[in-house]
Amino acid sequence: MSTPQDIEYAAQLIREGKVVAFPTETVYGLGANALNAMAVARIYELKERPSFDPLIVHIASLEQLHSLTNVDDRRVKLLADRFWPGPLTIILPKSEQIPDIVTSGLQTVGIRMPDNPIALELIRRSGCPIAAPSANKFGQLSPTLARHVAKQLPEVDFILDGGPAKVGIESTIISLNKHGFEILRHGLITREEIEQVVPYYALPDEEKTNIVSPGMLKSHYSPGKPIYILDEEIPSPQSGNQLTNSGNQLTQSGSQLPIPIQSDATSDNRFTSDRSRIGLLSYKGDDTEGYGHVEILSPDGNLRSCAVRLFAAIHRLEEADVDFILAQPVPEQGVGLAVMDKLRKAAYRYL
Ligand code: TXA
Ligand code: MG
Repeated sequence: MSTPQDIEYAAQLIREGKVVAFPTETVYGLGANALNAMAVARIYELKERPSFDPLIVHIASLEQLHSLTNVDDRRVKLLADRFWPGPLTIILPKSEQIPDIVTSGLQTVGIRMPDNPIALELIRRSGCPIAAPSANKFGQLSPTLARHVAKQLPEVDFILDGGPAKVGIESTIISLNKHGFEILRHGLITREEIEQVVPYYALPDEEKTNIVSPGMLKSHYSPGKPIYILDEEIPSPQSGNQLTNSGNQLTQSGSQLPIPIQSDATSDNRFTSDRSRIGLLSYKGDDTEGYGHVEILSPDGNLRSCAVRLFAAIHRLEEADVDFILAQPVPEQGVGLAVMDKLRKAAYRYL
């Protein structure tokens, strides 16, 4: 865990225009002074983002919000009072202060106040807002431990260690229109919770501006191993221990598993391996026998726990000695929406 001296050192690096990885309650961020375009450019370099993708600006006080945005909207105050510090990012019209590179030229900026004492202290001591994407290489899984950052981004100037991220998936992102809010990325904070403060209103397509959240790219979260989503009960081990493939379906002892796979994947003979070569991402821990590595998201079916454990579980499955990962779906309600969204993105390449 990082000491106050570490935080002071990291803040000094941020002031000097360097890039520092730091914990937030959602995932680890790769941060730089949001007002220093050169420092922000280094984030893109380190992440190897193929094109500039707007960054979220992290603040520690509402005064910072006022200097970064051109907005006089009482809904923002209501949302901030209710959800900040916390895993909600609000897209707002940006002020001149924010360099274009932070927002990839958009006239809007995503802002949030993270609920993590190390992050808040780092922002305060740096004396500037901190622009930060998740601290992973582009297209890879977001880090929930300092170790994940060190593995993916060994070149980063410094890593602050805050232990495991307590939320474990990225913030919910919303934008405001004149009638209400829309969700650009699902996260722990659900539509229902936000609706208690501001009405939900999705603009019809023809009225949408150019707000595209690349976090919504279909294949945004890709683990290093193939991951397939099961869309029915996992077959019990009694029905055989062999997974074989025939045609376009992964099948088990004649009974079809409903997993469409690409033809190039079917030629991969790893798919004929037995369960001991397969990792299972289980929802509640049913039917786990025989798998080489099992991660259970929530024995009592609590969707929040699933969200919190999701990325950490996939990281462990990636590190385990298995060839690919099967994931059981969770119910798509409340925060289950975010969990399934992330699972589908992780699986997309292989569907
Ligand atoms: O929980 C989080 O949000 C983490 C932690 C570190 O704060 N950050 C994070 O950042 O997930 P990143 O860069 O991995 O994802 C930010 C998403 C991107 O998909 C980006 O396109 C979207 O936010 N975004 C940022 N600014 C935007 C804007 N002005 N309009 C639309 N989308 C925006
Ligand atoms: Mg990210």
